[in-house]
Amino acid sequence: MALLDILVYPDPRLRKKASPVELLNNRVQRLIRDMAETMYAAPGIGLAATQVNVQQRVIVADLSEEHDQLQVFINPVISSKQGEIETEEGCLSVPGITAPVPRAEEITVTALNADGLTFELTAIGLLAVCIQHEIDHLDGKVFVDYLSR
Ligand code: NI
Repeated sequence: MALLDILVYPDPRLRKKASPVELLNNRVQRLIRDMAETMYAAPGIGLAATQVNVQQRVIVADLSEEHDQLQVFINPVISSKQGEIETEEGCLSVPGITAPVPRAEEITVTALNADGLTFELTAIGLLAVCIQHEIDHLDGKVFVDYLSR
């Protein structure tokens, strides 16, 4: 495994749009492991491949204090959103800044897991916020983009 360099805002590479993973090969498996290690080392609760300069739709997240609840989302798509929540967000790519961002409070997301199996998850609260934040990264958006509105 290896620690990956995290791009720092306003690096223009954070604006690139990620493409869907077509084949869950060894390279993608290694990317997932390296992203998890990088997230844990930072430490953070979520990381998108865009942040380590890989334009593929891969997200890792772990909200546990013990760092033993890794969740992997490959090609994530949000199929429904409900409610509103505003959380003080931060980002490993925007060190030293936190700000409240309006998000859906509950989402249903469909993705592939690390084994390439499709799953559907309904997430509420912080996990829902985290997934929305990370999918934004895959689309070239950073949370500070919301602040100027
Ligand atoms: Ni972020």
